[in-house]
Order: sequence, then C-alpha cells, then structure tokens
Amino acid sequence: MWAVESTPVNILAIESSCDDTAVAILQNGNILCNLVASQKIHAAWGGVVPELASRAHQQNIVPLVDAALKQSNIKKEQLSAIAFTSGPGLIGSLLVGVSFAKSFAMGLNIPIIEVNHMQAHIMAHFIDKPFPPFPFLCLTVSGGHTMITKVNDYFDSELIGKTTDDAAGEAFDKAAKILNLPYPGGPMIDQFAKDGNPKAFVFPQPNIPNYDYSFSGLKTAYLYFVQNHVKANPHFIEENLSDICASIQYSIIHHLLKKLLRAADDFEIKEIAIAGGVSANTGLRNAIEELGIKNDWNTYIPKFEYCTDNAAMIAITAYHKYMIGDFAHQSVSPHAR
Ligand code: KG4
Ligand code: ZN
Repeated sequence: MWAVESTPVNILAIESSCDDTAVAILQNGNILCNLVASQKIHAAWGGVVPELASRAHQQNIVPLVDAALKQSNIKKEQLSAIAFTSGPGLIGSLLVGVSFAKSFAMGLNIPIIEVNHMQAHIMAHFIDKPFPPFPFLCLTVSGGHTMITKVNDYFDSELIGKTTDDAAGEAFDKAAKILNLPYPGGPMIDQFAKDGNPKAFVFPQPNIPNYDYSFSGLKTAYLYFVQNHVKANPHFIEENLSDICASIQYSIIHHLLKKLLRAADDFEIKEIAIAGGVSANTGLRNAIEELGIKNDWNTYIPKFEYCTDNAAMIAITAYHKYMIGDFAHQSVSPHAR
C-alpha cells in the first residue's frame, strides 16, 4: 500500500485590532502556539491611546512572530498562508497587522486571509471540542460590541440583536473608572464582585425592545448613585467596593441574559454560546451555566485565553476560509468598523 503524503496546512495568524498584539500558529486545525503581548502602557492613561497602541504593535510584532515560529518548530517557508484581522478595530493598530501580513506573505509568495474580528470571537468555539452544532445562538460581548447572533454555519449567521449604545465591556470599564479602578476595569469589577452581595444595591434595568441592548441609562443611574453616596460619605466607595461591583455586575449580566433567554425561547434553540472579552467574567460564566441547567441548554463557554483578544481565533477562522479557498487580494485594506 502507498502512503498518501499530504502537506500540512500551516497558518500564521495576526491580531492587532486594539491594544493586544497577538500571534498564533495553526496546523491542520490545531493551535500549535498562541502568544499575546498585552500593552501595559495604556493603564496609566485610563484607556487605550490609539497612537501608543500602533507604536507598541510595531515594536511587538516581529519578535512575537519570531517567537511563535520557534515555539511551534515551524520554518517560515513551511507556512501555507498568513491571516490577519482586517477590522473592526483601531485603524492605526489594524494597519500594523495588515501591512506586516501582506508584506510577509508577498515575500514568501503565499496567500493572505482576512478575518473579521467579531466573527473570529464566535469561531473561537471551533478551537477545542466539543464544538457547538449548527444552528446555535452566540452572545458576543466585548469592549466594542454586544450582540446575539444565530449561527447557521461557519460563514452563515444572522444578527438578531445588538446594543443601541454602549457595549457591555464598555459598561464594565466605565463602571470601574467611576470607582477609580484602573483600566481595563472589567476584570477588576469581576475580582471585587466575588466578595460582594449582588443584591446589595439595585439599579434600574434597561427597557429596550426585541433582542437589543442598552447600557447608557444603567450607566447614568449608576454614576448618579455613586456620586450621591460619595457626597454623603466620602468613604462610600472603599467601604462598599465589593457590594457595588457585585451589584453593577449583576445588573449588566441580568440584562444580557434576559435577552438571550428570550431569543433562545423564540428561536427554539438550545445550543447556546458566549464569546468575547466579557465572556471571561466569572459572574456571567456561572450565570449562563445555571440558566443552561434550568432551561436544558447545551452551553459553550470559551477557555479564558480564547475570550479576550487572541490570534488563535483568527487562525481557526482563517483555517476554515483556507479550506474553501477564500483568500484576500493584496489590495485589501483595514476597516475600523
Ligand atoms: O474582546 P476583547 O478582549 O476586546 C474587544 O474586542 O473589545 O474585550 C475587552 C473587554 C474589555 O471591556 C474588558 O474590560 C472586558 O472585555 N473584560 C471583562 C473581563 N475580562 C475582560 N469584563 C468583565 N469581566 C472580566 N473578567
Ligand atoms: Zn475582541
């Protein structure tokens, strides 16, 4: 019998849409290496400074690609394609990844694959088994987006609800800033909330139709609540930090899950996934598991490293595009939205 020799599909993926420079290498659908260089510089400014982010990407990208190739034991000549995030994101940050990918691929004479960042967050569910079967509902919650998608196939999905103002991650970050917690605030709120009572303070639930979201009213109510209490007691924040964090986290999660539950009922779908940076939140992860048990759902919660921005999710999306020959042209440019 003849052994059939097949060349492995090796994809180098780059993610540089915001403040994390990330590089991953995938072989035949398996992640060999997943590296992230988080840019600490933004903490001092209380948020991402776009110009500083682009500069840091430029400094990080070459050493990170080098390290990823070494760790995966892959030579650049063995790469089948280079994938990159084309948007949405900060234009200067995206430009670094896109330009690097295009020139590297041109030098190696291999194809490029462009990946939409939000689609990649959902596709992160196809890195490790069990994979969700189609159709499934995915609540994608990040720093810039909040949406419910009905995913019919890898590249066929319907947006059924989205935020009409702030994203859930933004609500977490702003809530933290009001408490003078450092950026990014989401993980800080999560941390303090663990020791707090989620029912200690009650905030008004947003009232918005269909499967859409709104966080601006909740944010304003919370801001006035903190300001008024601090006026009466300057130590209010320190004395109640865990309870405040647990209560605002509870309000955000309650709004997120109420709409998800409604969508799952109306669409009669029991395969339910969460994705994006906020899906790293302990409260949300626990709440969706509980809701899953109550409603007989199969729930899909990404590993922590695949929740926040990473290049493994870009690599897996690119792999499925590679398999159907969906390559980009060298003239492709990044798009902020
Ligand atoms: O997906 P992501 O890494 O970047 C974007 O695509 O925006 O999401 C970042 C967002 C930030 O708002 C961050 O505060 C939030 O995810 N986040 C969290 C947690 N970890 C990250 N929010 C709440 N709890 C967490 N543990
Ligand atoms: Zn993201």
